[in-house]
Amino acid sequence: MKKIIIAIDGYSACGKSSTAKAVASILGYSYIDTGAMYRAVTLYFLQNFVSLTNPNEIENALKEIEIEFRHNPKTQKSDTYLNGINVEQEIRQMTVSDKVSEVSAISQVRRFLVAQQQKMGKKKGIVMDGRDIGTVVFPEAELKIFMTAEMTVRAKRRQDELLEKGELVDLEEIIENLKKRDLIDTSRQDSPLRQAEDAQLIDTTAITFEEQVKQIVAMSKQKLAEE
Ligand code: DC
Repeated sequence: MKKIIIAIDGYSACGKSSTAKAVASILGYSYIDTGAMYRAVTLYFLQNFVSLTNPNEIENALKEIEIEFRHNPKTQKSDTYLNGINVEQEIRQMTVSDKVSEVSAISQVRRFLVAQQQKMGKKKGIVMDGRDIGTVVFPEAELKIFMTAEMTVRAKRRQDELLEKGELVDLEEIIENLKKRDLIDTSRQDSPLRQAEDAQLIDTTAITFEEQVKQIVAMSKQKLAEE
């Protein structure tokens, strides 16, 4: 059966990962959360006091990092593992969120992770979400989506997500973090966040989660029919 690559890019907290996960599950595709990979590297750098301005230290640290996704039968979700340890909860904490844009602006880190992401997508049949999937990781992806939403909606979503995990964070603090990350993500030199020319824009401010998923599944089926 024909399979395609679905690339979903966009700003933080626009609902990319939950949408991508649902689309993957409906199509029977694998879902890859590339943000989790940047978060896992950030966690390792924080735990090991890696200097973000020392290329040798960064190179040596990257050699020590192994990231995997393993299915969790309890939650029916995939968890992120860093060197054999489940870090799914830790990588979502604010300490990591505060540093991840800085770490993901480092070219050495991007080269390291992009190579792994390209390998994961070799057989197609994947939905991958991130910031540079349609522009850098898979510029030839059959379907590219770019997701946006209004800042207040994004911040509220992120606050609810954190609350679900037991972390109560002030909305203003989340807005500040999102704004800072938007700025770094869109203005960095290496692979800045931008909409690929052939990506379809979906603004999730006023549509339901079910609608987002339905739209992308319909687009995927259309692409599969064209292939
Ligand atoms: O999707 P997320 O919020 O978990 O992503 C965390 C950070 O990782 C985000 O601020 C930008 C970076 N990132 C990136 O630079 N490239 C990707 N493909 C995915 C994430």
